[in-house]
Amino acid sequence: MLPPIHIQEDRITNELDRLATYSDAPAPAVTRVLFTRTDMAARAFMRQLAREANFRIREDGLGNIFVRWEGSEPELPAVATGSHIDAIPFAGRYDGTVGVVGGLEALRALKESGFQPKRSLELIIFTSEEPTRFGLGCLGSRAMAGTLSPDQLMQLTDSEGQTLEQVRREAGYIENLDEVKLSTGHYHAFLELHIEQGPRLEAGNLQIGIVSAIAAPATLRVEIRGDGGHAGAVLMPRRRDALTAASEMILAIEKIAQTTGREDSVATVGLVNVYPGAVNSIPSKVYFEIDIRDTDLITRDKMVTDIQQAIKEIAQARRVSRQIDILNADDPCTAGEIVVSAAVSTTHQLAYSFKKLVSRAYHDALFMSQICPSGMIFVPSQNGYSHRPEEYTSPQDIARGVTVLAHTLARLAS
Ligand code: GLV
Ligand code: MN
Ligand code: MN
Repeated sequence: MLPPIHIQEDRITNELDRLATYSDAPAPAVTRVLFTRTDMAARAFMRQLAREANFRIREDGLGNIFVRWEGSEPELPAVATGSHIDAIPFAGRYDGTVGVVGGLEALRALKESGFQPKRSLELIIFTSEEPTRFGLGCLGSRAMAGTLSPDQLMQLTDSEGQTLEQVRREAGYIENLDEVKLSTGHYHAFLELHIEQGPRLEAGNLQIGIVSAIAAPATLRVEIRGDGGHAGAVLMPRRRDALTAASEMILAIEKIAQTTGREDSVATVGLVNVYPGAVNSIPSKVYFEIDIRDTDLITRDKMVTDIQQAIKEIAQARRVSRQIDILNADDPCTAGEIVVSAAVSTTHQLAYSFKKLVSRAYHDALFMSQICPSGMIFVPSQNGYSHRPEEYTSPQDIARGVTVLAHTLARLAS
């Protein structure tokens, strides 16, 4: 029998609603980009909620926030949960925030139930899970796992030419970045609650997903240089249009992802900048980014190679030059056995319907798995929508996810 824990559904809904008001896009869309005024205000809101619940707060030099409830044996590695509150342009209000507000609710509800953890419990609010500002996702957890060195971090540059080093200092984060990395085993376990962001739970009429593995993401940055000029005066045979070349490349990228023979293969060009950007000027330069993923690393790597080759061939045929930079090419991860089995037993005992599934989106749990056994709990996404304003998960579904989270954290911390 599980001890009674009262998850306050209304409190979660109210806090998610309030968090959604910190946005640079009109509701229902949410835009919250790393270290903007809006992101800073949302961080202050979350810190305030954690303080009201009498938890201790620590922040590292990169702005990762750690909310700690001390266990009876504080020298033991803690059990952690958490997610992110940054949001891509014109996103919804549930991506990441459900794991942050839900994680806080899990800790509060356990405390209010009289539970006393042996291991300390921590809620982590990770810095910049989204790649919006610096082109690289999971900045906070990547740095914690040590896959990005302090030097690499400091040199990351945003589209306005500002370095991460500058903007983090302006945001008041001045501590040494050497201290962001955590040692292997720093945590006993990590468990992230998140919306599914896909249609599988809803289609199967299931309440909970337990993640068995996370797909391997890679990001490529491409710059194509052709020749510009007057849209009326330069005749077609003389053109070296960077945008028509890039268009052919983007179609080739789509074809490569469609023809791997695997349904998990995906490739997306979601960002294209055209220079000089005038209707009567031939594009001389195009910059685009490619997001490439698969749950199978060999297939993902082959897509990366095939895409580079296709870009090279099209560039040669169209007499444009190309520069390709691989921003990241991460390994997939398998969820930690102790975390999965604790979540499965809990979900069984709560009599919630569930299935194990692979996460096709990436999450901070991907990098936390390099530090400690890590896992994830998914709750259904209506119509499978995510990264768009229509994202929706019902308060009941969120509360079930938080219930599984709270009980599983209690198991892992006992
Ligand atoms: C996370 O936001 C992802 O793009 O998978
Ligand atoms: Mn996201
Ligand atoms: Mn997310």
